[in-house]
Amino acid sequence: MAVDSFAGKLAVVTGGGSGMGRELVRQLAAQGCSAAACDLNAEAVAVTAATSWAAAPPGVRVTGHACDVSDEAQVLRFREELLEQHARDHVDLVFSNAGIGGGGSFVKDSRDDWERTFAVDWWGVYYCARVFLPLLIASGDGVLVNTSSVNGFWATLGPGMPHTAYSTAKFAVKGFSEALIEDLRTNAPQVRVAVVMPGHVGTDILANSLRAHGLPELEQMSDAQVADVIPPAAQAALIRAGMLPEGASPGDLRRMLARANADFRDKAPLSAAAAATVILDGVRSGAWRILVGEDARKVDAAVRAHPEAAYDYAELRRMVAGTAAAKTPGQQPAQPG
Ligand SMILES: NC(=O)c1ccc[n+]([C@@H]2O[C@H](COP(=O)([O-])OP(=O)(O)OC[C@H]3O[C@@H](n4cnc5c(N)ncnc54)[C@H](O)[C@@H]3O)[C@@H](O)[C@H]2O)c1
Repeated sequence: MAVDSFAGKLAVVTGGGSGMGRELVRQLAAQGCSAAACDLNAEAVAVTAATSWAAAPPGVRVTGHACDVSDEAQVLRFREELLEQHARDHVDLVFSNAGIGGGGSFVKDSRDDWERTFAVDWWGVYYCARVFLPLLIASGDGVLVNTSSVNGFWATLGPGMPHTAYSTAKFAVKGFSEALIEDLRTNAPQVRVAVVMPGHVGTDILANSLRAHGLPELEQMSDAQVADVIPPAAQAALIRAGMLPEGASPGDLRRMLARANADFRDKAPLSAAAAATVILDGVRSGAWRILVGEDARKVDAAVRAHPEAAYDYAELRRMVAGTAAAKTPGQQPAQPG
C-alpha cells in the first residue's frame, strides 16, 4: 500500500548517527515526520537529532538515543525512551538500518569479529522487529523497512575479498523480510515490510565499522591491527589491482585504509542523501523490494539471470558490463557494501 505522506507520523531509525540513517532522519523530519534515531555512537546521533529537529517544520520532534541494536535489553530501553519522549503508544515506520562490516573470512578472521558483525547485522534487525512490531501493528498502518545489501543476494566483494559474516547476515535480513510478507499479510495486515538493497553508497561505513569492532582511530592503530584489517589475501588482491605497492609496509596499509575510506565515501556513484531519497520514495510507493543504485540493479539482474556465474568474476563482469560506466563488481576495495 502506498503512503501519501510521512507528515504527522513517527519513525524509528537505527544507525541514525551517520550515512543513510542520518539522511533518512533529516529527510523524514523535513517532510514533517517525527523521528527517534538511535546509534552506538551517542554523540553522532545527538548531532543528527539536533540538526534535523532545528530544520524541521513546527510540530515535528526528533530525538537521539544511545543504543546497541545487537543487545535486546538496549533495544527495549530505546523503545521505552522514545515512547515517553514522543508521548506516543505506537510507531508508524521502523528503519532497521544500523550495520557494520567485518569478519570477512570465516576461515581466517577471529570468531569474535565474525560474531560481532553477524550480531549487529542480523540480530539487530531481528530484535528491532520483535520489539517494534507490536507498535507498528498499533499504528494501524505500519511499515517495517529492513536494510540488507547487494551482499544479501551476492555474497562476496570480489577476488581475494571474502565477506562471509556480513553477507550471511544480509542474506538473512532479505530472507526474513521476504518471509514476513506473507506472515504479515495473513496475521498482521496493518503492517507491511520492505527490504532495502543498496549498492555502493558514499558513507563512512568503513571507519565506523572499525570503530564498532573496538579498534582505535587509524592513526592510533598498531601495525599488527592495521595488518589484521587488511589480511594477506586482501593485500595481494589490492596489489594486483594496483591499489597497493608490492611489499606494502604498515605505513602503506594505513595510508591505503585512509584513502579507501575517503574514496568509498567521496567517489561513490550515489551519496547517502540520494540513497535516502530512493529509500523513502520506495517506501512511499508501496514497494517491498528497494534496490538502491544502478550498480545494485545491474548485479541483481545478472545474478538472477545467471546464478551459476555469480562467483565467476570475469563472466559476471561481462554480464554487468555493456555498462562501461558501472563500477565492476570485484574491483572495489575491501569494503562492506
Ligand atoms: N554504504 C554502502 O555502500 C552500503 C551498501 C549496502 C548496504 N549498506 C547498509 O546500509 C546500512 C547503513 O550503512 P551506511 O553506509 O549508512 O553506514 P554508516 O557507517 O555511515 O552508518 C551506520 C551507522 O550505524 C551505527 N551502528 C553500528 N553498529 C551499531 C549498533 N550495534 N547499534 C546501533 N547503531 C550501530 C554506526 O555507528 C553508524 O552511525 C547498513 O546496514 C549497511 O550495511 C551500506
